[in-house]
Amino acid sequence: MTASICSPSISLPPSRLHKLGLSFPFMVAPMVGISHVAFRELIRSYLPDSLSPLLFTEMLSTLRLPHEDLSDLPGPLTSLGENYFVPQLLGNDETYISNSIERLLPFHPWGFDINMGCPASHQLQHNWGVRLLGDIDYASHVVAITKKHSPRPVSVKLRAATGAYIDLKYLLEFTKMMEESGADWITLHCRTQNQGHHGYAHWDLVGEVARARKIPVVANGDIHTWQDAIDLMKTYQVDGAMIARAATARPWILWQIAKKLGYQEKPTKRWETEPPWTPDEEGKEYFRAVLRFSCLLEDHFTDSPFALKKLQFFVAQGSRWLLFGHQFFHLVKRCKNLVEVRDFVNDYAEKTPQPMGQRART
Ligand SMILES: Cc1cc2nc3c(=O)[nH]c(=O)nc-3n(C[C@H](O)[C@H](O)[C@H](O)COP(=O)(O)O)c2cc1C
Repeated sequence: MTASICSPSISLPPSRLHKLGLSFPFMVAPMVGISHVAFRELIRSYLPDSLSPLLFTEMLSTLRLPHEDLSDLPGPLTSLGENYFVPQLLGNDETYISNSIERLLPFHPWGFDINMGCPASHQLQHNWGVRLLGDIDYASHVVAITKKHSPRPVSVKLRAATGAYIDLKYLLEFTKMMEESGADWITLHCRTQNQGHHGYAHWDLVGEVARARKIPVVANGDIHTWQDAIDLMKTYQVDGAMIARAATARPWILWQIAKKLGYQEKPTKRWETEPPWTPDEEGKEYFRAVLRFSCLLEDHFTDSPFALKKLQFFVAQGSRWLLFGHQFFHLVKRCKNLVEVRDFVNDYAEKTPQPMGQRART
């Protein structure tokens, strides 16, 4: 990454991710139904080409990957020239994991991530996701076999705890074993299994884990703004911050962070030199982002009902940061196709401008 840096206004603590070749320690999370190629392209449209944050795919089942025609999914897995994307794997069986990695390598992923946080019941039946977090030996085995077959860095994304109660001693022991089994870095979603995606994230935990580990530790959960992301790194001395739902409201959040750190280069595909900052500017840009996203979905997905569903899901997540987001989402849900969405959004944005809040409505 060679973006020009001009008198940075905020400086960050050193990040061990630099040793893995990453100079921008902020990234966008894996999210089922969201983190597809069109979403990643939307995020990249707010960045200069020289700034390459890691962008994750949604979780991919290693049971299915070896048999799927990856050029014939509802849309392409990745777009031309995208090489900082990280497929997230759900799995536990060596044959399936190695076959999946083999199938994915021709797409030039930057690395592979192992999901140890998904609490969905159908994933638990397969004994993966957050189940792995409950069994240190089993999770270590999955890391070791993934490392054995991956020529790229391997990371693990886990939660603060299975169930409801946080046991710091266990978390430190677990992450130690991930490190010893070969994980190149760890992301901690600082909520428990029982919290799902709700409530405050326990950010203090990630600082404890980062202090105890030699490998980089990235914080995730409850990051709503650029300030949150930067404060997290500074306050808890973690190696990076992974943004999830806030990126569906402010897909320009990495641009804001980069600006605050002193990166001056403007996004390659935009004429503006500043990201939206004020609640009104962000509110206006949100509607433009929805319009742009609808076009990206059409570019990448030939199945129109599928593309419409993806747009509606994106709005369901991100509109919670808007003052009248609930109303906006319900009106978008009524649209029958993306052309209707665009007509509606153009009209709505003009008649109902609204500010974007710092935190999402819960
Ligand atoms: C719709 C949705 C889908 C998600 N899918 C995944 C996934 O595929 N893999 C994963 O590790 N986490 C997944 N997550 C969890 C996020 O990556 C992240 O850990 C969580 O949303 C907490 O961050 P936030 O509070 O900033 O949103 C998902 C979350 C949401 C809301």
